[in-house]
Amino acid sequence: MLNKGYPSDWLSELKQRNNIVSVIGKYIHLEKKGSKYWACCPFHNEKTPSFTVSEDDGFFYCFGCKESGDVISFVQKYESCDFTQAVEILAKQANMEIPEFHGERDAVEKKQKRERLLSLLNYTYKHYMKNLYLPQAKPAQDYVKQRGFTRHELEDFKMGYSLNWDELINALRRQGYTYSEMIDAGVAQVKNNHYYDVMAERLVFPIFNSFGECVGFSARVLEKTDYAKYKNTAETLLFQKGKVVFGINLVKALKQKEGLKSIIIVEGQIDVIAMHRAGFKNTVACMGTALTKENAKEIKKLSSNVVLCFDGDEAGTKATIRSIDILKDEGVDTLIVALPDKHDPDEIIKEKGVQYLENLINNAMPVIDYLLSLELKKFDLSKPNEKGKYVKNALSIIAKLESNSAEEAYLEKIKDIASIPIDILRRDLANLKNRKPKIVENIDTNVLTARENGNIRAIRFILSSLIFHKNFVNKFIDYTKLLPKYKNIIELAKKDTPISSYYDYFEVDNYPILKECLGMDFNQYKDNDKQYFDECLWLVASQELIKKQTKLTEEFKECQDKEERTNIVKELNALNKAIREKNLEEFYVRN
Ligand code: UTP
Ligand code: MN
Repeated sequence: MLNKGYPSDWLSELKQRNNIVSVIGKYIHLEKKGSKYWACCPFHNEKTPSFTVSEDDGFFYCFGCKESGDVISFVQKYESCDFTQAVEILAKQANMEIPEFHGERDAVEKKQKRERLLSLLNYTYKHYMKNLYLPQAKPAQDYVKQRGFTRHELEDFKMGYSLNWDELINALRRQGYTYSEMIDAGVAQVKNNHYYDVMAERLVFPIFNSFGECVGFSARVLEKTDYAKYKNTAETLLFQKGKVVFGINLVKALKQKEGLKSIIIVEGQIDVIAMHRAGFKNTVACMGTALTKENAKEIKKLSSNVVLCFDGDEAGTKATIRSIDILKDEGVDTLIVALPDKHDPDEIIKEKGVQYLENLINNAMPVIDYLLSLELKKFDLSKPNEKGKYVKNALSIIAKLESNSAEEAYLEKIKDIASIPIDILRRDLANLKNRKPKIVENIDTNVLTARENGNIRAIRFILSSLIFHKNFVNKFIDYTKLLPKYKNIIELAKKDTPISSYYDYFEVDNYPILKECLGMDFNQYKDNDKQYFDECLWLVASQELIKKQTKLTEEFKECQDKEERTNIVKELNALNKAIREKNLEEFYVRN
């Protein structure tokens, strides 16, 4: 039997040979408490553990964000990859050979397409690399020399050169790639029926994902121009600009080799190269000024300590402020290096030396200090009204601090800077905090009516009791008749299916009710679970009966035939009686 494109037996073996506790334990620190393993959840930001792994059931569940799954879906989520990639990772770890993939047509096609584009891009970057050493590449060689890239750096970063508009296209044709594949991979564009290399005559930086697969390019013009210096691959199946982090593959490898204390984020790929050269091999770039939530998530997988080292200009400052919030939301601890005089890291190193930058990085500022320093720059404190504004802004930054002692320490600082007595600052801060608008309690915006909501809760409890084979389940009920919509789940439950296998049969992530069932916490019903189950059962059943009643009443109104009307009345009477007496006979198992 096939399961999501792989033989079921093989997939079960894969899961058996990849014990969920040891696999997850490689990514995050697990602690055993009782029958479960616990950790801070890698999928949402938290300080106290609510993420659990249960070894026997082979699945994980977070009580905070309700994320759940088996060992394969953990890898999928943690590595941000699809099912087949996760399977490949696990198979490799368990030294298992991967059988041929026979998924649904769409999935097979997508997988084949992905592999085809990856191989095209892999060929392309290697081709560009070779180009760089040809005699025709003189302009690029001069440029590389002028910017001071060593042979090693060119190799490490796989830099290359596009000779002209069609040389690559012809080479790809000879390799058997079609024009439409070149377009889909983002290496070619078409104009007047002519296909040409998007990166023509540029120095090319391939961009690798964290698995070391080349997914696209960023390429620089060699001469001074009045148009954009860099051109990036357009959005493709493999390349989404908001998702890629330049250098992530190298930093991941570094972490695997010698561990990682923090990650430095800069703006450009050239800065990354300069930083690596200066010994900061833990540096990545977000490619331009916009750090996205996806970037932050990707980075946090490797380290939750980040040092932002953006260009020392207005754009860099703005980007820093925006990135601070994004990183905070993801629970990343951030320090900031404010580079001087409109410089980027590459220029600083060239002009002032590695030691100077190292000093800046070692003294990187906490976020509050950075924000305060920006305020200080805005105002001339020798003027009373500007001093007033500075203090006001500074206090509103301090008001966000969570600890009183930190608050006190920063008040001392402002006292010294603005020479205002600390008691006055304290009073101002207290006023400011009181004036802050109260946070409105989260109103339940659930669109469901109370009855619908209750009904769903009841269905959920019934289904999960079936799934977990609870002894209080009423064995006389035909649950597929009661809940025909959930027939598939119920049938699996009947077959004593292990919890983790539900993830094989369903796209649990896109099936909220099942997802919640699998994460059901029966403890909260401990003392009256049987009673609660019966209530749920009746709630769902009675609604079915009422639906039937309404339908029959309609039929009665329309019906002209006397005999039939009598029959309907009989049926209605029986129904009314069943509802009155809470009789579940209608749903009994019949043999
Ligand atoms: P910068 O303009 O700061 O470039 O852009 P840089 O790193 O100093 O490059 P050099 O030293 O002039 O060669 C930073 C990053 O923003 C993206 C690129 O990823 C670049 O590395 N960028 C920049 C673009 O995507 N397009 C552009 O036109 C410019
Ligand atoms: Mn630069």
